[in-house]
Amino acid sequence: MIHEKIEQLLRTAEEFLPRAAQEVEDFRIRMLGKKGEVTALFEEFKQVSAEQKRELGGRINALKNDVQERIARWKEQLENAEQIAATDDLSRPGSNDRLGARHPISIVKNEIVGIFERMGYTVAEGPEIEDDHHVFSALNFAPEHPARDMQDTFFIEKGENEILLRTHTSSIQVRAMESQKPPIRVVCPGRVFRNEAISARAHCIFHQVEGLYIDENVSFADLKQAVLHFAKEMFGDGSRIRLRPSYFPFTEPSAEVDVSCNLCGGKGCNVCKGTGWLEIMGCGMVDPNVLEACGIDAKKYTGFAFGMGVERISMLKYGVRDLRLYFENDLRFLSQFESAI
Ligand code: DAH
Repeated sequence: MIHEKIEQLLRTAEEFLPRAAQEVEDFRIRMLGKKGEVTALFEEFKQVSAEQKRELGGRINALKNDVQERIARWKEQLENAEQIAATDDLSRPGSNDRLGARHPISIVKNEIVGIFERMGYTVAEGPEIEDDHHVFSALNFAPEHPARDMQDTFFIEKGENEILLRTHTSSIQVRAMESQKPPIRVVCPGRVFRNEAISARAHCIFHQVEGLYIDENVSFADLKQAVLHFAKEMFGDGSRIRLRPSYFPFTEPSAEVDVSCNLCGGKGCNVCKGTGWLEIMGCGMVDPNVLEACGIDAKKYTGFAFGMGVERISMLKYGVRDLRLYFENDLRFLSQFESAI
């Protein structure tokens, strides 16, 4: 009889599912109160024989402990939940997760690459750790050219064929010419390294996008149209360009490209230093020496190349005055680009 009672009460406690703290309290009174069912068992226990007592005592105590533990656990859970429900305003709008932002260098790099992709160029990439051949020799740099100097280049291994960090993405055009047959139309984005003191205008790490087009009958006029189209897409339809004669070992003739200042519309302001023009890239017709060094018949093919700094384009586009901001990961700077793609 008393055995069955214990079993039955254990099951009742196991199956009981309170939904409010008050229900737990009612259950406590029903079980452990003065007239409670567990309390009644202890009264009954007094009547049983000494022999039965030894066996039953442990079981009744275990039942009491089980019921007490369950009650304590339910109370804690339900009181917490009721407190939260009472203080929480369920109509309060949820907290918004902040959207991440692409880095302005990535945004501008993607934009530059996108403009050329729409003109039929494909993306080519190359290693950051390069050799002398791809960075200098194949690009017609004379052995004593100052760009090879320790002051500019981070060398990894000196000697016969030097290993170094590329100082420009022009190394990728060498790789493209060595591995593809004309017509070749590639844009080459990448990170470059130069041993420069860090300032508002210079950094030892920065990004470039190189472009290369090789085919039969490619002319300087084609180069000019490609660059003009790029300038209009990047800086607005009203943009104009001008080409100034320049020198690069790998192009002949070479030019520096200026775009009309999009801040003052060409009237002159402190960004364009009163000139109305902003320098955006270097370019030129690929030197026949470079074509031949890369295994392309310079009698049959001609081509143009250009190269631009992504940080510089981004500074002009977003009015950023200090190059170092791109490398500091300051969220006050980076979060301003949340709405850009
Ligand atoms: N490689 C040059 C630099 O790092 C940029 C450049 C100029 C690339 C003229 C070219 C070019 O392809 O034709 O300053």
